[in-house]
Amino acid sequence: MLFDLNLIKLVYANLPEKVDAARALLGRPLTLTEKILYAHIDGELPRMPFERGNSYVDFNPDRVAMQDATAQMALLQFMSAGKSKVAVPSTVHCDHLILAKDGATADLKEAEITNKEVYDFLASVSNKYGIGFWKPGAGIIHQIVLENYAFPGGMMVGTDSHTVNAGGLGMVAIGVGGADAVDVMVGMPWELKFPKLIGVKLTGKMSGWTSAKDVILKIAGILTVSGGTDAIVEYFGEGADSISATGKGTICNMGAEIGATTSIFGYDDNMARYLVATGRSQVASLANGIKDYLRTDPEVVANPEKYFDKIIEINLSELEPYINGPFTPDKAWSISEFAKAVEENDYPEKLDVGLIGSCTNSSYEDITRAASVAKQAEAKYIRVKSEFTITPGSEMIRYTMQRDGLIDVFSNIGGVVLANACGPCIGQWARHGAEKGERNSIITSFNRNFAKRNDGNPNTFAFVASPEIVTALTIAGSLKFNPLTDTLKNANGEEVKLDEPAGFELPINGFDVADNGYQAPAEDGSNVAVSIDPASKRLQELKPFPAWNGKNLKGLKLLIKVKGKCTTDHISMAGPWLKYRGHLENISQNMLIGATNFFNGHTNSVKNQFSHKYMPVPDAAKTYRDAGFLSIVVGDENYGEGSSREHAAMEPRFMGVAVILAKSFARIHQTNLKKQGVLALTFAYKSDYDRIHEDDVIDILGLESFEVGKNLTVLLHHADGSTESFEAVQTYNDNQFEWFKAGSALNLIRQNQK
Ligand code: F3S
Repeated sequence: MLFDLNLIKLVYANLPEKVDAARALLGRPLTLTEKILYAHIDGELPRMPFERGNSYVDFNPDRVAMQDATAQMALLQFMSAGKSKVAVPSTVHCDHLILAKDGATADLKEAEITNKEVYDFLASVSNKYGIGFWKPGAGIIHQIVLENYAFPGGMMVGTDSHTVNAGGLGMVAIGVGGADAVDVMVGMPWELKFPKLIGVKLTGKMSGWTSAKDVILKIAGILTVSGGTDAIVEYFGEGADSISATGKGTICNMGAEIGATTSIFGYDDNMARYLVATGRSQVASLANGIKDYLRTDPEVVANPEKYFDKIIEINLSELEPYINGPFTPDKAWSISEFAKAVEENDYPEKLDVGLIGSCTNSSYEDITRAASVAKQAEAKYIRVKSEFTITPGSEMIRYTMQRDGLIDVFSNIGGVVLANACGPCIGQWARHGAEKGERNSIITSFNRNFAKRNDGNPNTFAFVASPEIVTALTIAGSLKFNPLTDTLKNANGEEVKLDEPAGFELPINGFDVADNGYQAPAEDGSNVAVSIDPASKRLQELKPFPAWNGKNLKGLKLLIKVKGKCTTDHISMAGPWLKYRGHLENISQNMLIGATNFFNGHTNSVKNQFSHKYMPVPDAAKTYRDAGFLSIVVGDENYGEGSSREHAAMEPRFMGVAVILAKSFARIHQTNLKKQGVLALTFAYKSDYDRIHEDDVIDILGLESFEVGKNLTVLLHHADGSTESFEAVQTYNDNQFEWFKAGSALNLIRQNQK
């Protein structure tokens, strides 16, 4: 048994009482989110209800999960906190570092050689500190968590933004930076701003080509990439209960694409069935015992507008399949309008590659539905036009697929099964010819489609859809194909139509696996050695960042004024840089190289205030830092959206960036900046962004007399000698300001240990 049954028993033993107390405090029925959050607060119930979107609350999550790219830095930080064992059940998953090139077996072998040092480090740290270790090839973090660890009513954090996937099993699961994971692993409460609540009422029932993916693709179109910021999205209604547990997982997974803190569904029979099918019937029967506590209260379902901050209603019976993209997951097109959009926007019509699977869509249901479409190519003599890859989410899924003949179905139409890992979803794709930078289209069942994310080519137009739609378009080889209405010419010259997909929610013969790839930690890890080679290019022990000197920040050099979208991919690019995730100095050489400079419209080209020459961003930052100057980055809207990687916050800190001043921030990134001791501020008036000139030197005043809720002053020194000032908003609470004072949250943890 991999899950911690005693922990779940304990959570369920206390949950009803805590929920009843919260209901009494709030004096009204509760949403499911409120039940779980109030049941996980650290310490006593407050006297007054928390204010949504405002109160900072300390929570005690039940679990931590980390993927190999982010785990390196998280564990380096954990090691320096001086503890002997993790305080809550935690796991490490080796999924991000495997390069997709020649197929599963060869790629895995290659990864084991290339990443040996990192895998050995993660395995030994896990062994030493009581952390479950999932070897390379075992599967993708979120699929493994769903299959083994997620439980209704639980709360977890994970060092990956798609941790939210576990909401499919009724868990409040939140993507965090490594520094937050360290808080939880050292047994400290973990802080979160009490979220706002968006309710999604699902009515009707899906049929035909429509699948769970389309629910979230449509919502992404409604809410956009920032519409869920600081909010938890709660799904309810009879439509919600009609969706499988893994379908719910898909919907919650892509809640990250609307910036939501997380998303959640209430416990139902589908979840119970999934728990039983994945060897957790004890969890199902425990959950059945407190079922009402694991669902939205009926009065809330009846009058949702009274209890949620915003309501969206979707009738699943009328929902069409969606295709979202390119370059952003919130550009949503229903399938009936997509062909026209391709034409009008001049998207490359020819589809080069279709990719299915990933953490988002590799359930048995997804795979069998896609396979039912793939089978038809052979049966109806249709020649498949595009390349096709399949990424199983876990070894259990892959093994079961193989046993049930599904891998053969895909291979028969030219499909290449990749390793059970992230691969092309995170740019770990040695795509033939991508370096030529040619315009081309791909379609995936993944979650994200920012420029360059999949293959590094800025001219790859990546679209996102369900696995069955991806498979149909792959067969057709055209973005303009609508399988609901169009026909294809087969090898006999006949016009044939694809039948609607049909799949199985769960395997009839159950799941199966020979070796799941799990390694349990040592009972007593005190003698386990962890070594880091000082000459290593990939791992480096952390040195604490310097503490604040207690003075206002003066004379900051403007490093870059970012124009437009600046995701964590732009700040700390993935792809080839992933290998340096455990080496702060080396990975810092990618800092902000994807961000667009407002003043010249170029990426990775900023004016150096000493030489007045344009140079790469990391070089300019280094020049300032090495000359003893701090610098400042100015950002646009939703700065730092995308992922939870704290490298995007640690790199600026390491490179001497003291302040990020943006029009608005993505939640996780702003917290990450605060944790690393970078001052994260927003413009009080967004139009002040326009006042910042290329050669500005900037002071931040008011820090010496810091007060919670009190704005700071930004003083600009222009090159012509003139000055002007405006206000900046700081959202620090007292504890967060302690992080800033100590130099980082980790510095504070270490100080408190002594
Ligand atoms: Fe991996 Fe892509 Fe999911 S990077 S964790 S498969 S979002």
